[in-house]
Amino acid sequence: MSELILGIESSCDETGVALVRTRGPGTVPELLSHALYSQIEMHRAYGGVVPELASRDHIRRVLPLTQKVLDDAGCTLAQIDAIAFTRGPGLAGALLVGSGVACAMGAALDKPVLGVHHLEGHLLSPFLSEDPPEFPFVALLVSGGHTQLMRVDGVGRYQILGETIDDAAGEAFDKSAKLMGLPYPGGPELARLAEGGDPEAFKLPRPLLHSGDLDFSFAGLKTAVLTQAKKLGDTLEARKADLAASTQAAIVDVLVKKTLNALKETGMKRVVVAGGVGANRMLREQLNDACRKRGIRVHYPELHLCTDNGAMIAMAAAMRIEAGQQQAEKVYAFDVKPR
Ligand code: KG4
Ligand code: ZN
Repeated sequence: MSELILGIESSCDETGVALVRTRGPGTVPELLSHALYSQIEMHRAYGGVVPELASRDHIRRVLPLTQKVLDDAGCTLAQIDAIAFTRGPGLAGALLVGSGVACAMGAALDKPVLGVHHLEGHLLSPFLSEDPPEFPFVALLVSGGHTQLMRVDGVGRYQILGETIDDAAGEAFDKSAKLMGLPYPGGPELARLAEGGDPEAFKLPRPLLHSGDLDFSFAGLKTAVLTQAKKLGDTLEARKADLAASTQAAIVDVLVKKTLNALKETGMKRVVVAGGVGANRMLREQLNDACRKRGIRVHYPELHLCTDNGAMIAMAAAMRIEAGQQQAEKVYAFDVKPR
């Protein structure tokens, strides 16, 4: 039986809404429509996300986006079977907007709601692509808040193989960019600047590269970038592209090597890369190269679905319901889990 699921994402600085239809057990649900509003412009003036402003803007955007998604799919609110929202992790106030709207809609329409883990949304986002992966696979989850390698045997069957012991990969991009005086959001800015730089110009550390486990550490890299930037002093401006390229190379190097180690350890022939840093061109090129040589398939979400969006939340909910892993319920508790 097919079910229509509305998904709402509001964990940070993007308001995303999407409509997904399940197509029966053993099939991948279908994305009918999705809409996204990014708050990046609003937060740029402050050099980072201002939580209070983020919450207020989610409130402004979420209902118009919901209406757009319904119109685009030719559906009405009454046809929706369940409403999914991001339960966490994320900014508490921002999460409360999504959960509040989802619960209010659920109560008004007498429809069940379901809270989704934001990272599970990222993890399952490659299923929104034309060529979805098959289970099992290794997943590299690289976002602004998380860096994890996982063994994924099916929906809800996840085992963490390794993770960062301090900063996330996206954080390493963002903090290094800030040290170089680049505007928010730092990751994509640093990546853009790196295109014109020499990745071997500066010798930066590759923390835990040979640690023998699958954990990551990026805090030391950030300190090395700061030291290098101070050393450059007045010449930083002229060498910025080189420093950006060297920073990116260090982060990508560690991510690629550890992912290859995870594939070797598990004996798996398939890897999924998800989360904002998965949009990084150098990461994609190097991982594709290395995996091609080893006969390993790499799956990514479509570029516009790498960063936060509602489609991945609706998709994760639909896949969970299809797999019998979780039921939507008529419990309107506004429960969010920021951490
Ligand atoms: O998944 P996401 O949208 O939000 C979180 O759940 O954190 O990831 C955002 C992160 C930020 O740290 C951002 O700088 C990084 O992804 N990012 C990138 C690129 N695009 C986004 N980092 C490197 N290169 C990119 N092209
Ligand atoms: Zn995210």
